[in-house]
Amino acid sequence: MSLIEVNHLYKEFKIARRQEGLGGALRSLFHREYSTRMAVQDISFAVGRGEMVGYIGPNGAGKSTTIKMLTGILVPTSGEVRVNGLVPFQERQKNARQIGVVFGQRTQLWWDLPAIESFELLKQVFQIPDARYRQNMATFSDILGLEEFLDTPVRQLSLGQRMRADIAASLLHDPVILFLDEPTIGLDVLAKERMRKFIREINRERGVTVILTTHDMNDIEKLCRRMILIDNGRVMYDGELARIKEMFGKERVLIVDLEGEVNGFSIAGAEVIKQEGNRKWLRFNREAVTASQLINHISEHYEIRDLTIKDPEIEVMIRHIYEKGIGSYEGACL
Ligand SMILES: Nc1ncnc2c1ncn2[C@@H]1O[C@H](COP(=O)(O)OP(=O)(O)O)[C@@H](O)[C@H]1O
Ligand SMILES: [Mg+2]
Repeated sequence: MSLIEVNHLYKEFKIARRQEGLGGALRSLFHREYSTRMAVQDISFAVGRGEMVGYIGPNGAGKSTTIKMLTGILVPTSGEVRVNGLVPFQERQKNARQIGVVFGQRTQLWWDLPAIESFELLKQVFQIPDARYRQNMATFSDILGLEEFLDTPVRQLSLGQRMRADIAASLLHDPVILFLDEPTIGLDVLAKERMRKFIREINRERGVTVILTTHDMNDIEKLCRRMILIDNGRVMYDGELARIKEMFGKERVLIVDLEGEVNGFSIAGAEVIKQEGNRKWLRFNREAVTASQLINHISEHYEIRDLTIKDPEIEVMIRHIYEKGIGSYEGACL
């Protein structure tokens, strides 16, 4: 049995519709009109012990809603969730003992207390034995450099410090599963790297199963072999990142800067995937057309000022999956 199982999960939100003007406001007191939003639609997946899975999707895709159902904060509209044998919303306290959670957007720590006091409170809440607490604090401090701000109230911490404090706090009670909801959001490059390094170590050294939501493809590339791609509350892809790369492996992107006025740019054998003024991004299949053929082609109609050829970026691949679905790529000759 998998450690985490999600079957045909749905979550619908009811949103009170505001009515215009004073009359409307009065009417809403007695009679509210609702609209509904399906934030998660028919999502199914399973995660095995020790896996580190990237749960990726654009803003509003349903990532946090899924995490909240896995942690027991939200009750599913329908479908099943099991986390290490527990139904999270039915046994929220028990579930809390086996999971760690970090919400990048919001701290779980006590805002007005020095970070160390939050840690000590958690020690009480989870009844962590002294020795284990000290051991964990030492390990986490080592990698995350907690000493520099242990005595600072959480509200005065920088975003990077706060995130480090939050992830340390989430792991003090030795959970078997760690849910990270956008753990690198808003961090600078170095802080992101530090966070990723820590997550990787926790997964490798302690065998903690990790589900990581992000809209930053770099997090996935650095951390996860498997990713679940979601959009509009639905799973678009669930599998190895490497497979996506392979599927797009025949592709190249030619970036050209053109001279002069360019209207209605199009070139046979390539697809324009992005344009910024006179800079055009052209996707082509190197087995169907060579770069030099393409360049010749373009120069028959336009004057080229500059050009580069690149492997397609993961971001670009993902955008195409969002726009056209994975099916159009599978086994297809691009
Ligand atoms: N408490 C809520 N009430 C109403 N709508 C919500 C609520 N939480 C999320 N939503 C909506 O559900 C959708 C998914 O949101 P969310 O899971 O937060 O996305 P993500 O984390 O991928 O950015 C969005 O359209 C969002 O506006
Ligand atoms: Mg979110």
